[in-house]
Amino acid sequence: MGVNPNISSRISGVGAFVPEKIMTNHDLEKMMDTSDEWIVQRTGINQRHWVEQNVSTSDLGFKASLDAIADAGLKKEDIDMIIFATLSPDHDFPGSACFLQDKLGLSGIAALDIRQQCSGFIYGLSIADKFIQSGSHKNILLVGGEIHSKGLDKTPNGRAVSVLFGDGAGAVIVSATEVKDASKDGHIIATNLHADGAFAKELWLPGPGTGFDDPERVPKTMIQEGWHYPQMNGKTVFVHAVKRMCETLVHTCTSSGVKLEDVDLFLFHQANLRINDKVGEMLQIPADKVFNTIQNYGNTTAATIPLGMRDAIKAGKLKRGMLVASAAFGSGFTWASGLWRY
Ligand code: UT7
Repeated sequence: MGVNPNISSRISGVGAFVPEKIMTNHDLEKMMDTSDEWIVQRTGINQRHWVEQNVSTSDLGFKASLDAIADAGLKKEDIDMIIFATLSPDHDFPGSACFLQDKLGLSGIAALDIRQQCSGFIYGLSIADKFIQSGSHKNILLVGGEIHSKGLDKTPNGRAVSVLFGDGAGAVIVSATEVKDASKDGHIIATNLHADGAFAKELWLPGPGTGFDDPERVPKTMIQEGWHYPQMNGKTVFVHAVKRMCETLVHTCTSSGVKLEDVDLFLFHQANLRINDKVGEMLQIPADKVFNTIQNYGNTTAATIPLGMRDAIKAGKLKRGMLVASAAFGSGFTWASGLWRY
């Protein structure tokens, strides 16, 4: 794909949606052998939103998309591609982007699902940026959305993972733009994407899948063994998350000629407040430049960064013209970072 030096991309609209139902740590105390104190101390989470039964991931994505399209001042017909990042799709296939496309009534435009879990939003931003720069597309709807609550072990056996995750969706519109003044005009400056599959099983959802020593992709023993629930080695993930987020953030900034102190706002993935505090401490980032939302939503995986953008805008912390840096780490292992002027 060629890149046209005259075309850049910018984030022209931001939207988000979380389901109404709030699950506090005290609510979880009644289901799992856990405590508000443990969850707050170890993760920073106070509450998360969980859907009612009759809602799918593309339903959350649909509401976030309408919000983002309106924020961009566009009509939905202006969208010429959908990228949907999710690890909790409506169905195994087709992808949730197809279900969302139908809900939006945008028959005919490209609909692409990506995974990449907690790094899904930045991977998607990078893909959208490249398509826009090629000149082939003008307004790409990028959605990160998850319904974790339907896939968690809500018994004491699952407490180490299940207290962490919430449901929600965030969306942005990535639009073609011409940059006249790089110090003021909104544009995506850089994205960097990484993965190390040697750690794939440190945080994964084994079933259903073809990776079992079984002729069926839904092995009869799957439910009994709990392979349909996420499995995580929390400590390993934590250590790698801090290291890789620092590494990729510094690389993206320095290779763009930007000093960390010049960045106005840091929007990190929201997996654990302690991870983000540690990254901030190691890179000497002032705490008031990091915008966290995990307290209210838990970890919404591909949705955390656009959800954070929406809340930062509402809180008056993110304004047009500001320099924003973002980094994420998650299952795969995958990690990624991005730098843009909003
Ligand atoms: O976005 C995807 C990427 N995911 C992450 O980045 C997650 C990274 N990892 C983490 O955030 C942390 O490792 C956790 C929050 C998952 C766990 O925190 P930790 O400080 O690493 O705790 P631990 O797993 O070492 O568990 C400490 C203790 C254990 O008890 P013992 O063995 O010391 O008696 C656990 O059984 O805490 C116990 N425990 C709990 N207690 C109450 C584990 N989960 C819970 C719970 N409530 N929910």
